[in-house]
Amino acid sequence: MKNEKLIFGVMSGTSLDGIDVVLIKIGNKNIKLIDFAHKPYSNKLANALLLIQKPIHNDLELSIELGLLHAQTTASMINTMLKKLNIYPKKVCCIGYHGQTIRHQPSKKFSVQIGNAHMLAEKTNIAVVADFRNRDIVAGGQGAPLVPSFHQKVFSSRTKNRVIINVGGISNLTYLKIGDKLIGFDCGPGNLLLDYWVQKNKNKNYDDKGKWASTGNIIPNLLIEFMKEPFFQKKPPKSTGRDLFNSCWLEKFDHKKESPEDVQRTLLELTAISIKLAIVRYCNEVDEIFICGGGSKNIFLKNRLEQLTTQKINNTEELGIPSQSVEAVAFGWLANERLNNIPNNSPEITGSSGKRILGITHPA
Ligand SMILES: Nc1ncnc2c1ncn2[C@@H]1O[C@H](COP(=O)(O)OP(=O)(O)O)[C@@H](O)[C@H]1O
Ligand SMILES: [Mg+2]
Repeated sequence: MKNEKLIFGVMSGTSLDGIDVVLIKIGNKNIKLIDFAHKPYSNKLANALLLIQKPIHNDLELSIELGLLHAQTTASMINTMLKKLNIYPKKVCCIGYHGQTIRHQPSKKFSVQIGNAHMLAEKTNIAVVADFRNRDIVAGGQGAPLVPSFHQKVFSSRTKNRVIINVGGISNLTYLKIGDKLIGFDCGPGNLLLDYWVQKNKNKNYDDKGKWASTGNIIPNLLIEFMKEPFFQKKPPKSTGRDLFNSCWLEKFDHKKESPEDVQRTLLELTAISIKLAIVRYCNEVDEIFICGGGSKNIFLKNRLEQLTTQKINNTEELGIPSQSVEAVAFGWLANERLNNIPNNSPEITGSSGKRILGITHPA
C-alpha cells in the first residue's frame, strides 16, 4: 500500500541480554509488527561489555572493536530476516539503531552507545539512524527515557488512564492520563541487580520466572538500606543505568551473612517497591497497568506488582505489541520521525530546553 514504510528497529538494553531486531510497517495510522528476532550475547561478549562499563575501565580501542562486532551481528540478523521474508534491502526505508549503552552521564553531557552505524549501513545497504540521545542531552535533557512518546502514540486510550511499566535492566514507566501531559521517567533497577546476583550465586543468566527469588524471604533492614539510595527520592526528569546500579552498588551493603535467596527476594522487592512508589507519587487515578520488557516474564515479580498496586497487570501484547519487541519497535518509529524531520524528543520527559530532532542519519 502507498505511504507504508518498512523499517527495522534494533535495541540492546542495559540488561546486556543481547540484540532485539524488529521489522515494522509504518502506515498513516498504524504500526504493524512484521517480524522479531533476538540474539543473546555470548557470555564472552556480555562480560567484555560489562567490563567496559566499569568507570575505571576506559579502553577506547576495545569499545570501538565491540561496536563493530555489535554492528556485524546486527547486520547478519537483519540480512537473515530479509532473506527469510524475501524482502530486498531497497524496499526498507531505514534501520533505527540504538546500540549498546556503555556510559550514561547526562550531568556530564554525554551518553555513549556503541555499535558502528557505518558498518551496519555498509553490510545491509539500508540507511541507518543512530545516536538518539546526545542531542537531547546537550539541550539540557536526560536523553532518556525516549520511549514514553512512543507509548503515548501506540498505547493511549480515550477512556482509560494507563500506566506502562517497562522492566528491562532498568525499569521505567509512562503515565498516559487522558487530556493531561505525558509523564515518564526511570524508576530504578529492573532486572540488572537480579541478574547479577543469580549469575554470581547460581551461574544462571537470569532467575527464570522469579522462581529462585520466591524461595527467599525479604530482609527488612537491607531493603530499608537499599531504599536510602537518593535516586529513588529524586524528582523527574530522571534517568539512570549501570553507571549507578551495578555490582559495586550492591556489594557496598552488608549482606554477607544473609542467605543468597533472601538477598534475591529483597532485590526483587526493591524493583517492585521502586515501581510502586513511582506510581503512587506521580500517577494518580490509574485505571489500567500494562507491563513490557523481559521483566514481564518474571511471574513472581509481576504477581508482586499486582499485590502492591492492587491492580491486574496485563502484558502489552494485549495492546498489540509483544512485550519483548516494544523498545525495538520504538526505535524504528523514532528513526522514521527523524527521517521526516519531526522533533522526536519529549522535553517534558527528559527535561531538555525544547523540541529537538534526535538521531544521526547514515545513508545506505
Ligand atoms: N523467563 C524469564 N524469567 C525472568 N526474567 C526474565 C525471563 N526472560 C527474560 N528475563 C529478564 O529480562 C531481561 C531482558 O529484558 P529486556 O527487556 O531485554 O531488558 P533490556 O532492554 O535492558 O535489555 C533479562 O536480563 C532477564 O533478567
Ligand atoms: Mg534486551
